[in-house]
Amino acid sequence: MDQIIVTGMKSLHGRISIAGAKNACLALMPAALLSEETLTLTNVPKLSDIVTMQVLLESLGLSVSDLKDTDKITLTSRTVTNYVADYEIVRKMRASILVLGPLLAREGRAVVSLPGGCAIGARPVDLHLFALEKLGAKLELRDGYVHATARNGLAGCYIDFPFVSVGATESALMAATLAKGTTVLKNAAREPEVVDLVTCLRKMGAKIDGEGTDEIKVEGVSKLNGAKHAVVSDRIELGTYMLAPAITGGNVEFIGGRRDLLEAFCNKLEETGIKISETSKGISVQQNEKRIQAIDIVTEPFPGFPTDLQAQMMALLCTADGISNLEERIFENRFMHAPELIRMGANIKILGGTARVTGVRQLKGAPVMATDLRASVSLILAGLGAKGETLISRVYHLDRGYEKVVRKLKGIGAKIERIK
Ligand code: UD1
Repeated sequence: MDQIIVTGMKSLHGRISIAGAKNACLALMPAALLSEETLTLTNVPKLSDIVTMQVLLESLGLSVSDLKDTDKITLTSRTVTNYVADYEIVRKMRASILVLGPLLAREGRAVVSLPGGCAIGARPVDLHLFALEKLGAKLELRDGYVHATARNGLAGCYIDFPFVSVGATESALMAATLAKGTTVLKNAAREPEVVDLVTCLRKMGAKIDGEGTDEIKVEGVSKLNGAKHAVVSDRIELGTYMLAPAITGGNVEFIGGRRDLLEAFCNKLEETGIKISETSKGISVQQNEKRIQAIDIVTEPFPGFPTDLQAQMMALLCTADGISNLEERIFENRFMHAPELIRMGANIKILGGTARVTGVRQLKGAPVMATDLRASVSLILAGLGAKGETLISRVYHLDRGYEKVVRKLKGIGAKIERIK
């Protein structure tokens, strides 16, 4: 299995291009099921999660073009030849559940394996099912699969989510586009990836209002057409790489990075003493080797501080001056990077849903183990700031969400290698 070796304490300078958002793309691809015409997506990141979604959609009869030498894919769903999403594919990636709503809306039936457990908490899919049931689907759980039918089609309705879920909002949105009548989603997710999905669905002919607020209204139509859409830039990739020069010192520009998608994170980074400026092509980060200040963060749905940047922010705060409290409110059990950071000399105590990080002067390289996507990249960031070598195992997690991570970091002067 591949490993990554990072030799720390090199200051970083240069430019990094930010890719299209993985999480946006994982919702946009299943939207192709809603039309018989072709959906063309550009700015698609080359990631193993995207390939998993491609394999899943192909298993349902879609023809999907290859992503090898381009950032463009075309997805055509002339006929749906299979309406069963198999466990062997779904278990690899939770976002597979996003085929359920569109498949049901298009075919009136769908059988989708339950995604099962996940390293960062229980992560059930009950809110997806709650929304689809409100839209008129009959659901049955049998042998680990959700069997869903809507013989007479779906019908518009009022859905008040008990709490905010990105995925469940996306499921409900896609299903409602082809439902009869009006659907209102209350307490909807406001994430930029949801807004991007709505933008694309609108190009496909859907009638939707209110995206980016907590109330979205969908007027069902009988048919959607094909469309072309460029995937929004990846705010989580941006935030992750912004932390690299923040940790090591240096000056890096992030091409295509958008502060408006990452305001809460940028405000917190500035609170630590890091300088951020907007440039004509994106965002730049300057850190002139001063010790950063400890801060407190609380993860929340957008526009709050994103849970997907909590692990990476912790890597920075390990060497801050003072005590930082990081409260995780979205996922339970999302501190698995903490024991690995402790192996590198960090002083972290987990108290329920809060990690209390007492800043130390310097981390030291050590062999560490990646446990999930964001945890693994937090270990790379910590390694960039540590004295000596950090050897990270189980780096396949990284391939799910970071395109060319080694090449991008090398490009700004990091000493990092992937070894077989
Ligand atoms: C998406 C992102 C993920 C991010 C998360 C929160 C994708 C592919 N993934 O995941 O990177 O960390 O948003 O910003 O877009 N929940 C339920 N029942 C459900 C659904 C969710 O209880 O049916 C809970 C989850 O366990 C979690 C919370 O709701 O505690 C929020 O999860 P949700 O917003 O749904 O996350 P995902 O859409 O799975």
